[in-house]
Amino acid sequence: MTGNGEIVRAEKITKIYRKGEHEIKPLDSLDMVVAKGDFVALMGPSGSGKTTLLNLIAGIDSATSGRITVAGEEITSLSQGRLSAWRTRHVGYIFQLYNLVPVLTAFENVELPLLLLPLSRSERRKHTANALEVVGISDRADHFPRQLSGGQEQRVAIARALVTDPDLILADEPTGDLDADTGREIMLILSRLNREFGKTVIVVTHDDAVASHARTHVRLDHGKLVLQDTESCKAAP
Ligand SMILES: Nc1ncnc2c1ncn2[C@@H]1O[C@H](COP(=O)(O)OP(=O)(O)OP(=O)(O)O)[C@@H](O)[C@H]1O
Ligand SMILES: [Mg+2]
Repeated sequence: MTGNGEIVRAEKITKIYRKGEHEIKPLDSLDMVVAKGDFVALMGPSGSGKTTLLNLIAGIDSATSGRITVAGEEITSLSQGRLSAWRTRHVGYIFQLYNLVPVLTAFENVELPLLLLPLSRSERRKHTANALEVVGISDRADHFPRQLSGGQEQRVAIARALVTDPDLILADEPTGDLDADTGREIMLILSRLNREFGKTVIVVTHDDAVASHARTHVRLDHGKLVLQDTESCKAAP
């Protein structure tokens, strides 16, 4: 179980990728605790395992060993079927390159995760419209991804991550393909989801300006997680 006030607890997580004789171990007995409501920036050099760790927390990939509990569920012991049902309700995932479905409109892209839940058509439409509203992209609801700018596509992707009202939002370099101003707008949306809507946010980034929006900064170093600082540390004399 995650303790009171925790949303993620990863214990002794090891991830080994094997390619023939070759072995890569991006995560090596890593421990991580994320407090509910925190905004975490996850940094570290290319290839250090940031995406790997995010995918494990989302239950998209499985650890070689160790235990991960997210939102009160030990996800490392769930079957694939239960895991995808769990993920729909608890995790919103945002990718660097948006990953929108090209043949669906913005509205339909955002509505997509709701099709996995027992909702009526009118409930789905209401939640979708709300999510588009929160990210300020309602006026583009009928556009296809190719008709949107990168920043607009990322807003739609955030709406899609948000539409099921998950506890946890994971973003893998969400501004990596955007200019600085657009990147800042995207980070302001994520900050708002954190502050106003109480979502816990974990953002992977290489960019200090992006990381400055976070409250807690952690770094992957040789397979382990190193705490850089939290707002409470910063505030301490
Ligand atoms: N499916 C896979 N099969 C084999 N090796 C993999 C796989 N996915 C990742 N790796 C390896 O694991 C290591 C960590 O990769 P990961 O993508 O997690 O790094 P990252 O910190 O996200 O890097 P970047 O900043 O470049 O996105 C790398 O050495 C990578 O080559
Ligand atoms: Mg990565």
